[in-house]
Amino acid sequence: MFPMAGPSHHRGMNLSTLTAPRPTRNDVAAPAQLLRARDVVRVHRTGDQEVRALNGVDLDIGAGEYVVVMGPSGNGKTTLLNCLSGLDQIDGGTVEIDGRNIHRLSDRARTAHRAERMGFVFQAFNLVSVFDAAENVELPLLASGVKPRSARKRAAAMLDRVGLGERLTHRPTELSGGEQQRVAIARALVTEPAIVWADEPTGNLDSRTAESVLELFDEVHRAGQTLVVVTHDSGIGQRGTRLVEIRDGRVAADQTRVAAR
Ligand SMILES: Nc1ncnc2c1ncn2[C@@H]1O[C@H](COP(=O)(O)OP(=O)(O)O)[C@@H](O)[C@H]1O
Ligand SMILES: [Mg+2]
Repeated sequence: MFPMAGPSHHRGMNLSTLTAPRPTRNDVAAPAQLLRARDVVRVHRTGDQEVRALNGVDLDIGAGEYVVVMGPSGNGKTTLLNCLSGLDQIDGGTVEIDGRNIHRLSDRARTAHRAERMGFVFQAFNLVSVFDAAENVELPLLASGVKPRSARKRAAAMLDRVGLGERLTHRPTELSGGEQQRVAIARALVTEPAIVWADEPTGNLDSRTAESVLELFDEVHRAGQTLVVVTHDSGIGQRGTRLVEIRDGRVAADQTRVAAR
C-alpha cells in the first residue's frame, strides 16, 4: 500500500514553507488546476458479482483547495480516492494530475509521480511495525533517493513539527493511536507533496486526538498544500474549503465555501 518512489528531484521547498503565510484571496487569481477527472468509472468484480463503485465522476480540484468528501458508507468514497490518486485502476474515463493522464502512465512512472507529488494518510495508519517513528517517516525520502543523513534530519524535523520530537525511536506499538496517526501524517508530509489524500484519518481516534490531527490538516492547508479528505465526521466538513458529497458512485453535491479560512 505504501507508495514507493522512483527517481525524484527536490523542488527546493523546505520546512519553512509549511508555516509561510498563505496569500489572501485578493492576491491570487483562480487556483491552478491540479486535478481533472472526467466520467470516471470503476467496477469492482468479485466472483460473478459486479459493483459499479464509481459511476461517472467528474471533478476538478485546484491547487490549495481543502476538499472534504462525505457520503454514506459503501457509496464509493474510498474507491474515488484510490482511483483519483492512481492507487487503483479505473474502468472508464480519465484522471489528469498536473496535466498528465495518470492511468496511462507506466506503473513505474505512475509510482514515481505519486511518490513525488502525493502523500497518503489512512484510517489504519499503515505504519511499518518493525520500524521506529523516524524510520517510518524516512521511508519515502530514502525511496526517492534522498541521502540517509539528510532523510534522518528531515524526518526528525517533521516529527518535531507534529509534536513527536521526543518519540523518534518509538515503534508503532509503543505509541498511542493519535501518535501513530501523527507519524503517518509526518510520513505523508515529509516529501512536501502537492496533494495529501486522507481516507477516514480520524476514524480510529478519540475526539480530542482527532482534533489535534485536524489542526495539523489546517496548517497543511494554510501552507498552500492541497488536501482531499474522506470522512464521516461532519466536523471535518466544516473545516474544508469545499464539500463534495458522493452518493451511488457519483458526485451528488459539490459546494465551495464562500469565506476563506
Ligand atoms: N476491492 C473490492 N472488491 C469488491 N467490491 C468492492 C471493493 N472495494 C469496494 N467495493 C464495493 O464498492 C462499493 C464502494 O465501496 P467504497 O469505495 O469502499 O465505499 P466507501 O468508502 O464510501 O464506504 C461498496 O459496495 C463496496 O462493497
Ligand atoms: Mg471507505
